[in-house]
Amino acid sequence: GVLAGRALDLAGRHVVISAGGTREVIDPVRFIGNRSSGLQGYALARTAVARGAEVTLVSANVALPDPAGVKVVRVESARELREAVLDAAGVGPDGADAVVMAAAVADFRPDRRSDTKIKKSSAEPDPIRLVKNPDVLAELGSLRRDALERGGREPYPRVIVGFAAETDDVLANGRAKLARKGCDLLVVNQVGEGLGFGTPDNAAVVLRADGGAVEIQRGPKEDLADVVWDLVAERLS
Ligand code: CTP
Ligand code: CA
Repeated sequence: GVLAGRALDLAGRHVVISAGGTREVIDPVRFIGNRSSGLQGYALARTAVARGAEVTLVSANVALPDPAGVKVVRVESARELREAVLDAAGVGPDGADAVVMAAAVADFRPDRRSDTKIKKSSAEPDPIRLVKNPDVLAELGSLRRDALERGGREPYPRVIVGFAAETDDVLANGRAKLARKGCDLLVVNQVGEGLGFGTPDNAAVVLRADGGAVEIQRGPKEDLADVVWDLVAERLS
């Protein structure tokens, strides 16, 4: 539901949202991907626009139309997503007010990509060796911490929001992840039971760096998005 007090409470704010799921190329026809549909990230973009924000949406491999009034930057891999998010988040006068990392970013990628299609001709396939991808959310947190320690006045993102899908020990894992990543808010999704990837509904707990938690009952991804923006707007004001 939309509360009257929400109207245009993000006017004059620039927010950066990542959405969808990255793909890591194996060869010209294959990749390692994930099940993210981008629905939650796109709901965040639409609701932010409705509340008056300037929105940059870094979109990884989604089959969704561009939301009206949003700057969409399309990326494929985790490393492309990192470039686009850091570029949009900026440091300096054009820096974003908030970054929300709703994308499912691949933790690993193949250590090399084949320029030609891998054939099944040989008797046994070669194993695919994986290497670590950069952690964009953790990097945003440490860039901000470094800027603060230098006493810099750069408008680094004042609010950094992460998403996490946990299947077990949801709260304990979420708390540890929030601390590790140095973000202000961590939206911990409950996956399974017909919720999460590709579904219109979501249920979540938003953990705050100050120790608080906000529970969001099962409902449309727009509703979850609006609660995230409520918490972001509160931190920005
Ligand atoms: N994330 C990121 N860069 C990565 C991996 C994740 O920026 N290479 C971000 C996601 O966009 C999300 C948050 O980190 O906002 C949490 O992602 P998650 O996969 O739950 O956390 P990980 O630290 O990768 O831990 P694990 O997968 O082991 O649970
Ligand atoms: Ca991960």
